[in-house]
Order: sequence, then structure tokens, then C-alpha cells
Amino acid sequence: MSSDSRIMAYEAKPDVCQPNGSAELPMLDVYMPMMKSAAIISAGRLGLFEALAKGPLLLARLAEDVKASAQGVGPLADFLVTLGYLEKNGECFANTASTQRWFTSAGKVDYTPGLLWTQEAWPMMGALTDVVRSGAPERPFWDAMVEKPHLGHLFASYMAAFATDLGPDLLEHVPVSSAHCKLLDLGGSHGLHSIRFCQRYPQLSATIVDLPSALMETGTTIERQQLSQRIHLVPGDLSDCDWGSDLDLVFYLSVAHNHTADENRQILKRIGDSLNPGGLLVIHEYLAEEPLNAFHAAFRLTLLFETGTQIYPYQNYCEWLGEAGFGEITRIDLDPHEKGSLILARR
Ligand SMILES: C[S@@+](CC[C@H](N)C(=O)[O-])C[C@H]1O[C@@H](n2cnc3c(N)ncnc32)[C@H](O)[C@@H]1O
Repeated sequence: MSSDSRIMAYEAKPDVCQPNGSAELPMLDVYMPMMKSAAIISAGRLGLFEALAKGPLLLARLAEDVKASAQGVGPLADFLVTLGYLEKNGECFANTASTQRWFTSAGKVDYTPGLLWTQEAWPMMGALTDVVRSGAPERPFWDAMVEKPHLGHLFASYMAAFATDLGPDLLEHVPVSSAHCKLLDLGGSHGLHSIRFCQRYPQLSATIVDLPSALMETGTTIERQQLSQRIHLVPGDLSDCDWGSDLDLVFYLSVAHNHTADENRQILKRIGDSLNPGGLLVIHEYLAEEPLNAFHAAFRLTLLFETGTQIYPYQNYCEWLGEAGFGEITRIDLDPHEKGSLILARR
């Protein structure tokens, strides 16, 4: 599908934050996004979109299926109709095409884990003012996952949804040769990228390095794919763990934004030293551009809050990669642009 036809197929949802009349109603900008998020997250937690995945349902049946009251589900479903998440035909509610595609098991990617994660992230965001005051989080985001292990699992499941969406782009753009045998997946979390590449390329074996909190389910996922002989887990901090040498392929996918510029400089240097000649490093990132668009600006604020880090411009990566001895450097902006960019660098 060309990007033009994809844009035409996408139906923009109504912007419910705008007032209906001519008056400027300043609190709508705060109140409506709050209610919108609360409603979509509640639908995800109730399993309401999934309940409609097989087809339209009457309110009473929908309420029964999600084990909630019809008095509650009615107002929720009506609001979701105005948001463009549900449709109402006569007395029946149905998912819109976009909801079916992105929030059910019948669609292309199910981002429901993102809704469950956002439920947890929301109260945490209450501390944003303090983080802005001090300029850094009181403690690293990852510590919360050690204290509350279910957070690590939820975050990894959310990342797995992203990885399902990104996987085909990686397979298309990453040139793996028959001489490439050893893959290192830094911050590999759910393991889906390593699994996908090992399934496609039978000569590959992989090592996944991540914090223990991110690897809780990964071993089971790998076992289910019968790849335990070829994919190994190294729980630990990538800044000081032994990740091996003689590597042919290294993934650094959506991990650079969780590190400071100095840390990235050092990590890329270490990656360069661990790669065989001809080896390939693959970075996936959101590259900062001036002026920052709204999504990048929001993400930068999230990173300040979570890890005290940021997104970096392409020039920074070129500088770090040059210092680390990488030669050919290629940038691929993914389609749609919101998927971020790949940087391929050869040793
Ligand atoms: C945004 S997620 C990306 C996950 C995966 N690479 C993907 O693309 O779907 C970032 C990952 O980096 C891991 N991570 C962050 N800092 C780390 C560190 N110092 N050592 C090891 N892993 C780290 C996190 O636990 C998390 O799994």
C-alpha cells in the first residue's frame, strides 16, 4: 500500500477538545483529554473493544460480556461513539475500523497493553511538577519496576505491541547476510525482535540483554517459539554487563533515549569494539528535529520524567558512531513518520 492510499484509508477521529460554539472554553483542553483517556483506558480494562471484535452487540449483551452494569456501559459507550472509537447502529454498538485494527486481537496490532500501562502511568504523572522543578526524576523509572514487578511485565507487554508493529519494517530494511551469525539485542525486553530475526535467518543465534524486571516473561515466550537453544537471556545493566564479542549484528532499538548522551557515546564505542569487521549496528529511534513536533515534545517531557534523558538529533548519532569507528551510516525514516527512524551503521 502506498503512503498516499494509507493516508486516504485513515479516518481522522473527531477533535472533541474543541468547543462546539464560538466561545473559547479554556478548561476543555484539560477536562476533555482527561475524560477521553479515562474512557478509552476503561474500555481496554473492561475488555469492551475485544467483546465487540466479533461483531456489533446490543447494550445489555455488551454489558453482560464485559461483566459490568448496563447503566455504566451505556454512558461509556455513548462517549466512545463521540470519540470515534465506537459506532452506534440502531441499538447496537460496534468497533470503528480503527478500534478493531489497533485495540483487538482481530486487528493488525493490539495496543490494549498500552492502555493497561497508561492506567499505571497516569498517577505517576502527578509528580511531573516536582520533576520539572528539580530537572530530573527523584529516582530512575526502572526502580519502580523492581519494587512493583507487575509494572515491568506491563511495560514489556506494551513494548511488545510496538515491536509487533515495527517488526516488518526491520525485516525489510535490515540486510542480514549469510555470514551474520551472532546477534546481540540490547534492551531486548519481550524478545520479539530476536525471535523474528532467528525465525527468518536460521544461521542466527541471539543474546538479549535487559534489566531483570523487563525479562520476566521473555524466557517463556522464547520457549513457546522453540528457540531456547538459539536465544539466550543476560539479565543485567547494559552499562556494565558482559555481552560477549565477535558479534555480527547488534540491535539498539528504542534504547538510546533511555540514556544520556555520554552513556550513548560509551555504549556505541563498546558496541563498535564488540562487532566483527563488516558487522552491522541497527538503531531505532525518534530523532529530534527543530522545531520539535508535538509528539516529540511530549515524548521528551515523558523521558525527563521517567529517566531524566531525551531524544537526540541525527547529528549526535553520526558523531558518536564516527568516534566508535563506524563507516557507512544510513538513515531510514519509516512510513508513517510516527514510527520513528532506523540508523544502520557498518563496522
Ligand atoms: C523502550 S524499551 C524498548 C524495548 C525493545 N528494544 C523494543 O524496541 O521494543 C527500552 C528497553 O531498554 C531497557 N533498558 C533501559 N536501560 C537499560 C539498562 N541500563 N540496561 C539494560 N536494559 C536497559 C528497558 O528495560 C527496556 O526494556
